[in-house]
Amino acid sequence: MTIPISRQGLEQIAIALAVGVILFAVLALVRVRRKDEYRRFAVSAGILAALAAVALILGYTIAPNIPTPPVPLTARFVSNPTPDTPATVARGKAVYQVNCAVCHGAVAKGDGPAAFTLVPRPVNLQLHVPQHAPGEVFYWISSGVPGTAMPAWQDSDASTGKPKLSDEDRWSIIRYVQALARGEQP
Ligand code: HEC
Repeated sequence: MTIPISRQGLEQIAIALAVGVILFAVLALVRVRRKDEYRRFAVSAGILAALAAVALILGYTIAPNIPTPPVPLTARFVSNPTPDTPATVARGKAVYQVNCAVCHGAVAKGDGPAAFTLVPRPVNLQLHVPQHAPGEVFYWISSGVPGTAMPAWQDSDASTGKPKLSDEDRWSIIRYVQALARGEQP
């Protein structure tokens, strides 16, 4: 059985809950030292701790474990060789619409027609791409994301023997998604 939230997502929820546990525990301690009624804070801390434990147990039993693969240091700092021009963005858009929109959506919001059948769901690239170095994004597009439906677009196509998408095509897509993320409508 799989559930549509990853171990990493549940770990982040557990960390947020742990911050709450610490907060309430500190409040309870302050109350104890002042010899005040402290029980409500202690109970709140306990409830949050129990929820954090549940999140971690789900995370390490039935949630899918999909760390976006670590990116080699050299790949991370590779810069985009394509010029940031409307022509590059238009090329990226064309390649994107043919190859990526079915999963990641017409404007890369993670809502393509195939998205709803996939676990884990494709991410909203408008949100994710600006949070990463372009070299990282390029690496994931090129090498895919193991354990998910995301293909490796540098792999050769069985029929032609050439990469499914050329380096230039993959970099152009990044220019296109960056333009979308800036709020443009290319
Ligand atoms: C068959 C469906 C499918 C297709 C087609 C597809 N993707 Fe993905 N993609 C996914 C899934 C599923 C993930 C994994 C979700 C995650 O990383 O959490 C993913 C992950 C990614 C990521 C990593 C994002 C991150 O921050 O975790 C990038 C970048 C990406 N895709 C770009 C593309 C591009 C560009 C194309 C077209 C060349 C493409 N994808 C085509 C399904 C797809």
